[in-house]
This record gives sequence, C-alpha cells and structure tokens, in this order.
Amino acid sequence: MKIGVIGAGAIGGLIGKLWAEAGHEVFFSSRNPQKLNELVSEIKGKAYAGTVKEACAFADTLLLAINYATLDEALDQMENISGKLIMDTTNPYVWNTTGGLERTLPENLSGGEVLSQKLPKAKIAKVFSSMAAKTMGERHHKKPQLVIFYTTDHSDVQPTVEGLISDAGLAPQYYGPIRDSLPIELFGEYSDKVLTPEQAQAMMVEEGKL
Ligand SMILES: NC(=O)c1ccc[n+]([C@@H]2O[C@H](COP(=O)([O-])OP(=O)(O)OC[C@H]3O[C@@H](n4cnc5c(N)ncnc54)[C@H](OP(=O)(O)O)[C@@H]3O)[C@@H](O)[C@H]2O)c1
Repeated sequence: MKIGVIGAGAIGGLIGKLWAEAGHEVFFSSRNPQKLNELVSEIKGKAYAGTVKEACAFADTLLLAINYATLDEALDQMENISGKLIMDTTNPYVWNTTGGLERTLPENLSGGEVLSQKLPKAKIAKVFSSMAAKTMGERHHKKPQLVIFYTTDHSDVQPTVEGLISDAGLAPQYYGPIRDSLPIELFGEYSDKVLTPEQAQAMMVEEGKL
C-alpha cells in the first residue's frame, strides 16, 4: 500500500518504519521534512520524506501522528483526503506551562469523534492512540501478541486497518464505532494496557461488547 504519515516523531516514526519494513511504501511528512532524512535513510524499504501536502497526494491511507496543539494547522495542509482512510493516533492533550498534560476537549468527547466531525469526507479510524510508542517498539512481532484496539464507523476499512496493525507486528481488536473511542484514547480504561488477544476479548465480553 501507499501510506502517508503526517507527523513522524515517536509514534509516526515507529509505525511508519514497521510498515515500510513490512513492504509498504511510506511517505513521512512534517512541518520540517528536511529533518526526516535520517529516519528515511535508516529504513530498509521504500520510504520517502516531504511535506504534508505531498504525503496526502502520494497515499491511499494516512496515519495522523501530530501533537494535538497543531491539529488544525495540520488539517489545513491535508488535501486529497476525500474517501481515504485516516488512522488517527492523536490524543486531545497539550503540555501546560508546568510540564503537565492538559485535556483540550470536554471529558465525555473523544478526539476520534472530533476528527470525524472535522473531516466528514474521510474515513476515520482511531488506533494506536493509547499504547506507548516505547511499548509497541519493544513488543511488535513478539509472542504473545500485543493487542491494539481500534474504532471506526466504516466497516469497509476494517480489513485494511486490521491488516496494517498486523503488518506492524501487533494484534488488531475492533472496539466499536467512533463514538466509543474514549476508552481507547490516552487515560481511557484501556490506555497503556498490555493485553493478549484472549485477555482483550475476555474484557470485552465482561463489558458486554462481545
Ligand atoms: N509517544 C507516544 O507514546 C504516543 C502513543 C500513542 C499516541 N500518541 C499520540 O500521537 C501523537 C504524536 O505523538 P508523538 O509522541 O509521536 O509526538 P512527537 O514525537 O512530538 O512527534 C510529532 C511529529 O509531528 C510533527 N508535527 C507536529 N505538528 C505538525 C503539523 N502541524 N503538521 C505536520 N507535522 C507536524 C512533528 O514534526 P515538526 O514539529 O517538525 O513538524 C513530529 O514529527 C500525539 O497526539 C500523541 O498523543 C503518542
């Protein structure tokens, strides 16, 4: 697949690299694409770097992995996204002046829902947002497999989302529609929970979701 990564830091850099190593063509982007040359040169596979606009034009599928404070700035640059799958890793938090994380949305509103409202023509899946990049970096392609939950309202993109989670060496678990995203975003019930597929399914059975 041709994948565009918008924001290539801890999370975008890691997941994009895993996809390129799995055989996908990955176009990394940020506001300073010249800083991504080192990342691209270290990757064994088809990896490129450029602007957000170039990544959107190149890709069939996008990974959104920018800091929430710059969400609208990033969305302004994202063209050619109608009908495309956008895998959203972001969390609605910004750093405050004392070094703490401050939530920017009301407690009962998820970042996934807000992004779906902001980009009604794209197909949003909320994924990778509540698992630390460090944990995924250590656990990918290992047994027992690490579960990554996702939500989406678009059943037609579920096979692609699941295939891409698997290609990153992790185990996909559908959690529900986008309105159910809060538990799988940062500080939600499943935030940073290291679970095997069996444990994840048992928890969902207990919740009445399976
Ligand atoms: N780190 C984790 O463990 C983790 C885990 C799960 C989810 N997340 C979520 O994933 C998102 C990214 O986190 P991170 O830790 O990967 O952040 P990060 O390491 O700071 O990387 C952010 C990347 O986004 C780029 N960027 C920022 N604003 C941009 C914009 N407007 N347009 C294009 N590129 C932009 C930055 O490059 P430039 O500044 O050069 O543009 C950088 O490449 C956050 O919303 C976070 O909550 C993080």
